[in-house]
Amino acid sequence: MQNKVAVVTGGASGIGRAVAEKLVSLGCKVVIADFNSQSGNATATQIGANFIQADLSDAEQCRSLIAQAAQLHGSVDILINNAGFQHISPIEEFPVEQWNKLIGVMLTAPFLLIRYAWPMMKQKGWGRVINIASVHAMVASPFKAGYISAKHGVIGLTKTAALEGGEFGITVNAICPAYVRTPLVENQIADQARTRGIPEDQVVTDVMLKNAAIKKLIEPEEVADLVAFLASNQASSITGSSLTIDSGWTAQ
Ligand SMILES: NC(=O)c1ccc[n+]([C@@H]2O[C@H](COP(=O)([O-])OP(=O)(O)OC[C@H]3O[C@@H](n4cnc5c(N)ncnc54)[C@H](O)[C@@H]3O)[C@@H](O)[C@H]2O)c1
Repeated sequence: MQNKVAVVTGGASGIGRAVAEKLVSLGCKVVIADFNSQSGNATATQIGANFIQADLSDAEQCRSLIAQAAQLHGSVDILINNAGFQHISPIEEFPVEQWNKLIGVMLTAPFLLIRYAWPMMKQKGWGRVINIASVHAMVASPFKAGYISAKHGVIGLTKTAALEGGEFGITVNAICPAYVRTPLVENQIADQARTRGIPEDQVVTDVMLKNAAIKKLIEPEEVADLVAFLASNQASSITGSSLTIDSGWTAQ
């Protein structure tokens, strides 16, 4: 993967940061995109990547991100659609603006970024798109209507783009993790405790790990290792797939 150009959205934190670090270690030129410029810049400096600030809920900023990354390094070869957030609320109280934002950042932005990076990948006859979906792209849980709908949508986008990319050497896959130890999950523990009326430690054991055969949170580096494999030439026949890292959650 020496000198391949990778854009990692949401790369300032959690899974995105671990993915960016892994791809740098494999010789990629990595661009971290995030709306948090403070942690984005700090992460980029620490791991030897570039940082571009972008709010992916804005279509023009999606276009500009790919244009800037291509200007910086000549192309975009690997696109990791990772940026995301969560909103916990019962459906009858679910704020419409949160619904729109969740769909915007986690479904529309991946579509736009694929659309803008596609011509460069086609021209090279090589490309990798890896969408960080979720176990919630396959099954649902209560109080997460926007997140779960966006993540299910990304599986459809993954399959469609995979079919279109095949003849051009572009593979498109989704990774579906269960709970990974990141700030997104740490913040969710308090929200879930409030919404469900249970203590925070019970959220981890009774909610997050309830369906897991292996009773531990997943580490971001485990997701990064799978990203690295899917981005490699060894994975050139894997496309349109949704790969779980879910500790057995969806096996039942
Ligand atoms: N942590 C988990 O348990 C888990 C499980 C399954 C899937 N995922 C998915 O993995 C991805 C990364 O999650 P994480 O746990 O590392 O979260 P995180 O909160 O640690 O990191 C998410 C990053 O996305 C960025 N971001 C959010 N909205 C953005 C926007 N509008 N524009 C640009 N950047 C934006 C944030 O600033 C942050 O740096 C998400 O798509 C999430 O849904 C996480």
